[in-house]
Amino acid sequence: MAALVSDLLELSRLASGERPLRWERLRPADVLEDVLASLGEQARARQIVVSADAASAPEVTSDGDRLRQILENLLENAVKYTPPGGHVAVRARAGEDRSVAFEVEDDGPGIPAEHLPRIFERFYRVDKARSREVGGTGLGLSIVKHLAEGMGATVSVSSEPGRGSRFTVRIPFRPPPSSAEMAAPGAGDPAAADR
Ligand SMILES: Nc1ncnc2c1ncn2[C@@H]1O[C@H](COP(=O)(O)OP(=O)(O)OP(=O)(O)O)[C@@H](O)[C@H]1O
Ligand SMILES: [Mg+2]
Repeated sequence: MAALVSDLLELSRLASGERPLRWERLRPADVLEDVLASLGEQARARQIVVSADAASAPEVTSDGDRLRQILENLLENAVKYTPPGGHVAVRARAGEDRSVAFEVEDDGPGIPAEHLPRIFERFYRVDKARSREVGGTGLGLSIVKHLAEGMGATVSVSSEPGRGSRFTVRIPFRPPPSSAEMAAPGAGDPAAADR
């Protein structure tokens, strides 16, 4: 119940644009390290082996809190839905047009194609009975989508039932923030870049 209320509050904050963007220069390896640190214990408890690779990824300009929150949600899902003994890989790599792609991949149950278009909807869960068992509110991925869109990033999924799922977050290129941008709250909302 408490988790539901806090997730709903987070969604409403995001929808109302109340949460200012804070651009920073980030090393993808540091981002992955932070995310693994916060979910590592949960993974070990479920006997999931998590690997990380950001060796070839250049630095990005992004909102670090948002990016970490996105990846934590995706990693939490990967750990939660993959059976014990499974594997999860988190990666960052250079994408097209100087973008950087962050990926969270698991070898869990996968998501049937007919559900894929809907999993980012609020409260949408693929397997109702199993979801009740593992807990959660069904808001995680809708928060992920709002967080990504709010900073001009995209999130997509590909999955094969029985083989696993891969979620990809694409951070478009953005020059390093100026000191004014970093100081001013709300500076550099994605639309402002076009004005
Ligand atoms: N890595 C994954 N493997 C298999 N199914 C997944 C995976 N990630 C998400 N799903 C499916 O998508 C649904 C929606 O995920 P979402 O994160 O929005 O909600 P949740 O995990 O059920 O709850 P919450 O995130 O609020 O704790 C899940 O209930 C699950 O059915
Ligand atoms: Mg979730």
